[in-house]
Amino acid sequence: CLAGGPAMAQSGYPNHAISLVVPFAAGGPTDVVARSLGAAMSQTLGQSIVVENRPGAGGTLAATHVARAAPDGYTFLIHHNGMATAPALYRKLPFNPLTDFAYVGQVADVPMTLLGRKDLPPADMAEFIQYARANGSKINLANAGLGAVSQLCGMLLQEALGTQFTAIPYAGTAPALTALLGGQVDVLCDQTTQTLPHIRAQRVKLYGVTTLDRIKTLPDSPTMQESGLKGFEVKVWHGVYAPKGTPPQAIAKFNEALRTALKDPAFTQKMAELGAEIVPEAKQTPASLQSWLQSEVDKWGPIIRKAGVYAD
Ligand code: MLT
Repeated sequence: CLAGGPAMAQSGYPNHAISLVVPFAAGGPTDVVARSLGAAMSQTLGQSIVVENRPGAGGTLAATHVARAAPDGYTFLIHHNGMATAPALYRKLPFNPLTDFAYVGQVADVPMTLLGRKDLPPADMAEFIQYARANGSKINLANAGLGAVSQLCGMLLQEALGTQFTAIPYAGTAPALTALLGGQVDVLCDQTTQTLPHIRAQRVKLYGVTTLDRIKTLPDSPTMQESGLKGFEVKVWHGVYAPKGTPPQAIAKFNEALRTALKDPAFTQKMAELGAEIVPEAKQTPASLQSWLQSEVDKWGPIIRKAGVYAD
């Protein structure tokens, strides 16, 4: 029989709360998606989904925790591009994203925004490029550690500009943005799911968006590509994972709840307001997440190795 089959049928999965592990600080972009998703999914599952923030080492502590958790259908992980970049960034990664997990499906794609503190001298991206090249390591760039998309975006930006900033890592971009708002750091590349209200209230300077095309939520903001950084693109994607060996019935049930949530009007409206785009149905399946992850590992590995950024 299938692993966990009879026990699961008897107990009527899920029969108690489910943990959804978030690899970054509470209140940040990943947390916002996780909490909204969890609330929508719990309606279908009839059990609460408890978000558990386990920040550290750019998301790899949380992924390690879930890879080693009991595969009983009660622990899941939501993670972004960091799942695919970690193998190139960490020489001693304690897990293999391609072999140590069961896959549930993708969730939503999110654009990033390049921000400066309110009183940073450059007024626009053209001025920022000059300022960055002139000031290099005097510029403090906040990020959420190696494996965070804020770090990935910053790495690509420094590559494109041919300059090197001083990186200041945080447990997530929630505290990183607080530092930017307080003027303790100069620059942050972060997701619209957290940055839009601060941009609209002009509490930060917006230099551009990281998608190839302009976005609906910030129609006046130029893309980085428009400002001369040809082909510059960072789009954040999200996957839901479970420990390898999680019973297929639990994965199927969790996936069904995921797909229902991705059609839920309250959830989809909230995501749209935050600039996030729900993935098409074809990407909401375990098999599509697994093959997408493989393609992302293959895409980012060479780029990261070329940049020479890694942790021992
Ligand atoms: C967060 O939730 O704090 C972010 O996703 C971190 C990041 O990857 O930049």
